[in-house]
Amino acid sequence: MQIDLSGRHAIVTGGSHGIGLAMAQTLAACGAHVTVFDLDAPTPVDVTNRASLDDAFNRSPVPDIVMINAGTAYLRPIPDTTRDIWDKTLALNLTAVFETLQAASNRMRAAGRPGAIVLTASTNSYDGEENLIAYNATKAGVLGLVHTAANELGPYGIRVNAINPGLIQTRLTADSFNNETVIKEYFRAIPMGRGGQPEEVAKAAVFLSSDWASYITGTTLLVDGGQMACKFGPWRDAEAEFRNSRWQRR
Ligand SMILES: NC(=O)c1ccc[n+]([C@@H]2O[C@H](COP(=O)([O-])OP(=O)(O)OC[C@H]3O[C@@H](n4cnc5c(N)ncnc54)[C@H](O)[C@@H]3O)[C@@H](O)[C@H]2O)c1
Repeated sequence: MQIDLSGRHAIVTGGSHGIGLAMAQTLAACGAHVTVFDLDAPTPVDVTNRASLDDAFNRSPVPDIVMINAGTAYLRPIPDTTRDIWDKTLALNLTAVFETLQAASNRMRAAGRPGAIVLTASTNSYDGEENLIAYNATKAGVLGLVHTAANELGPYGIRVNAINPGLIQTRLTADSFNNETVIKEYFRAIPMGRGGQPEEVAKAAVFLSSDWASYITGTTLLVDGGQMACKFGPWRDAEAEFRNSRWQRR
């Protein structure tokens, strides 16, 4: 038995790169018809601009599946988190997420169509990783959107869930992945001993969007190699070595 999304129309925001691209590819591999809303697409869509967002929805069929994934992060300690950085982070990671959720669910409800919405949150929805105060605030806020939207949209047969990726290899995290010293210490605390790939997040998101998750709404799914399950991680130099960007037992 496989996940079969044939006949479904899916929209993925931020679907031109990274996790969103993997989501779009995985949805398509399961048979869905996929539309990407992205700044970097043949027809650019800016999800932070309501007119651009509404225009994109009006050009697309009413979706059965919506993955609200576009997001970004600016690394800044608290003193350097300017109002501009704060506003830009909230505009994309929280306000645009709400507006996409609203625009999508309005159309799904009006068409009498059930469906599934998956938001990309983060392990940072729960923890306070340094230099990311604005990002962490938005990703915590996304959980409020998930809970409330699941509650209000349940009666219409629309499920709303989030995935919470850990450190995933995309252009957003390229600086970390390119720095062996950084990832060696970071991955020491991850039971799987490595970072994640976009496809590993996409598969979890597609599961949540599919009928296999038919009784799942209002929840979150960590895709983090076990990072949030433990405080210090299992990898010690005495028994393990860091080779090919991952911890392995000797
Ligand atoms: N990479 C990670 O480690 C990680 C971990 C947890 C959560 N996330 C979340 O995953 C999501 C995707 O991140 P990624 O790592 O794939 O990043 P990415 O930079 O590779 O991809 C982001 C995509 O969003 C698009 N985008 C940016 N601003 C946009 C706008 N205004 N309108 C439309 N599209 C826009 C970009 O063009 C790009 O295609 C984000 O919400 C991010 O916070 C990432």
